[in-house]
Amino acid sequence: MSKNFVLIDKKIKDYNKKIYVDGDKSLSIRWALLASQAIGISTAKNLLKSEDVQNTLNCLKKLGIKVIQKQNICSISGRGLNGFIFKKNIILNAGNSGTLGRLILSLLIKSPYKIKIVGDKSLSKRDFSRVIEPLKNIGVNFYPANKSKLPIFIKGSNYLRPIKYIENKGSAQCKTCVMLASLNVPGKIKIKAKSSRNHTENMFKALKIPIKTKKIFNYDFITLSKPKLIKKFDFNIPGDISSASFFIVLTVLSNNSKIILKNININATRIGLIKILNMMGAKIKFKNAKIINGEKCSDIEVKSVKKLKSIRCPTYLNSAAIDEFMIIFLVAAKANGISYFKDLSELNQKESPRLKIAARVLKNMGVKLRYDDNSIKIYGNPNLELKKKIVIKDFLKDHRIFMMSVISALSFGGEWKIYDPISVKTSFPSFFKKIREIGGIIK
Ligand code: S3P
Repeated sequence: MSKNFVLIDKKIKDYNKKIYVDGDKSLSIRWALLASQAIGISTAKNLLKSEDVQNTLNCLKKLGIKVIQKQNICSISGRGLNGFIFKKNIILNAGNSGTLGRLILSLLIKSPYKIKIVGDKSLSKRDFSRVIEPLKNIGVNFYPANKSKLPIFIKGSNYLRPIKYIENKGSAQCKTCVMLASLNVPGKIKIKAKSSRNHTENMFKALKIPIKTKKIFNYDFITLSKPKLIKKFDFNIPGDISSASFFIVLTVLSNNSKIILKNININATRIGLIKILNMMGAKIKFKNAKIINGEKCSDIEVKSVKKLKSIRCPTYLNSAAIDEFMIIFLVAAKANGISYFKDLSELNQKESPRLKIAARVLKNMGVKLRYDDNSIKIYGNPNLELKKKIVIKDFLKDHRIFMMSVISALSFGGEWKIYDPISVKTSFPSFFKKIREIGGIIK
């Protein structure tokens, strides 16, 4: 797509389809980072081929790791714990990825040289103090002192110490950052973390890294000790529920359609959107569930819904739906009644200030709402039908804002001009292909 915008002026017609979506981003990045620390050649099938993952592989290559990508298989020749080849003047580019930018720091905590971490315009606006602080407590050095945004320099230390860490945001990136640090820190690291996606815990268990986990209400208590080594491991990456969610919402909002999304990761810490939509009257079902590499996967069956109810969204679901709220808001816009979502300040810490920008998109659509930095109230209209022209631009090329806008255009009609289609490459490169597969027309 060479233009820097797309035009959509037709609602999608009814469909009945089965599709696959691209591989899970969180699992792809975690597999690559951990494979680099294993001994021997690890392989991943269906690794996500997106910019965030490509940047992960590029960073690993700069650190002396051999990576081979052939068709649907990626292999990484790990050099063992702290086995990177550290050189002077290395610059690592995390691009748009908060997950990569934050997690890679933990693998550099013994680097004898300063390493510079840079990112794109969006990532350079995001807060890194949330991972710098715990790593400093472990004994890692950051320059310039007190800087909380990229670009920053990290330099490791040979005098690392274990910490007790409390994570209160429900951020899997913060939790994982400290977990990955434990691979190179002597003694026991203890974490109390507000529940969030637990892929790292699952991988650690599968890799026999010493880890104990206990869940008490909405908190996970995790104890970690340094492993002697990590053996090479192969991984089969299932479809990404965050990518599947665009099609779930499109189908829920359509008149008489059905979709089956094949082989999606349905880890309980990721399916907030499904729980929320089912509370709103959707009937989304899991079929053929199985465990693959310690992760629950299944097909997801979705049908259109005639009546949608509003919701006062329980905050314990926030972390499990954190990347999906913008499309949940679209469902709220069509539900009968007023929906309310709160404790969502973390949304404004993402690739763009998503609560603010999603509210702007909804306002452009004519949806009545109230919002502040932390919450949003949406006045639903079951007959929502757009006739007007809508332009969506200036959203820091946030992939999920772009895809939300496409789903809204295909669901509610109107004449949409949406900028920065290239953004889908961050997380879901086959997005347009999949939309066309089910009959959506994007010019
Ligand atoms: C991710 C965690 C979430 C999520 C991001 C991916 C991960 O971020 O928004 O897209 O893979 O750990 P936070 O940990 O900042 O909530």
